[in-house]
Amino acid sequence: MGAILNDIWGNSINAVKLLTTRLGKLELSTPLLVASGTFDLENFEFFDPACLGAFVSKTITREPKKGNPPPRLYETEAGLINSIGLQNPGLDKFIHEKLPVYRDKLSMPLIVSFSGSTISEFCQMLETLEASAGIAGYEVNVSCPNVENEGIAFGTDPDIVFELTRRLQEITDKELCIKLSPNVTDIATIAAAAEAGGASSLALINSLWGMAIDYRTGKSKIKKGIGGYTGCGVKPVALALTYKVAQAVRIPILAMGGIYNWQDALEFIWAGASAISLGTANFINPLAAPELIMGLGEYLLSTKKSINDLKGKVEI
Ligand SMILES: Cc1cc2nc3c(=O)[nH]c(=O)nc-3n(C[C@H](O)[C@H](O)[C@H](O)COP(=O)(O)O)c2cc1C
Repeated sequence: MGAILNDIWGNSINAVKLLTTRLGKLELSTPLLVASGTFDLENFEFFDPACLGAFVSKTITREPKKGNPPPRLYETEAGLINSIGLQNPGLDKFIHEKLPVYRDKLSMPLIVSFSGSTISEFCQMLETLEASAGIAGYEVNVSCPNVENEGIAFGTDPDIVFELTRRLQEITDKELCIKLSPNVTDIATIAAAAEAGGASSLALINSLWGMAIDYRTGKSKIKKGIGGYTGCGVKPVALALTYKVAQAVRIPILAMGGIYNWQDALEFIWAGASAISLGTANFINPLAAPELIMGLGEYLLSTKKSINDLKGKVEI
């Protein structure tokens, strides 16, 4: 696989140029990223990291989180339900143990995903992260409960998304990407609020609510009952929301939700995405990333189009 990739990178320099894209303040060598929580350094054993335009880390919270009790993963007929519960080592351990490894091993920009339970906690976390070297940007996970607002997820309230984004952009000049939840009535209003607050890009979609029950016993397949649904079954929803958001904002979109191959990726670019992420696909096919980038590179080369030429040009 490495050899084939080298061939693409080595011989088809035009393809490489056609693959470049911009995500807010970041110039990316390819439009392919990995979705938070679905990929870590060990996945690079399988392929050349040069296929990725940037690397997004698993969401961190201020305090360590043990995550939810098992069973917390269930594969459905069309995708995956997960209830990991943001298991992570916490901000301190991330900065002192994980970040130095990322600095050492990653050849592409690192985007750190983080989440808080109040606006001031988000801000304090960002201030701490800003004091650390090796971070190119941030993905703000707003799908978590806001303890100051009856535990309702931050990302469901446009006023709160606006205020949170406004406060965060005062702290950093780096890429500030707000990751939107699909579990809302009108995602375009939330997207516009993030843009008005000063976000430089948007990521979507996070997981949809999902549940699975054993029809024989009546028992939930997931210990907590409801989990997050991702993978191929969510693709039409993610595509529709990408299109909707692209109509509502001018900042770039990092799209994800059921992308398994280069054809899926292309659909999201037509819908308005500047970059795309592989999530659940990483669990199914460890070579999904190099296969996607090779397919997309070959397509762009054969049509002599760049990502920018195709972005948002869906014919309705
Ligand atoms: C096992 C698993 C863990 C995830 N953890 C996170 C996370 O920590 N933070 C986050 O913002 N999204 C998380 N997600 C959501 C993904 O980043 C992505 O938004 C979602 O899976 C949709 O893309 P996909 O259909 O390609 O998987 C997780 C998804 C899965 C399947």
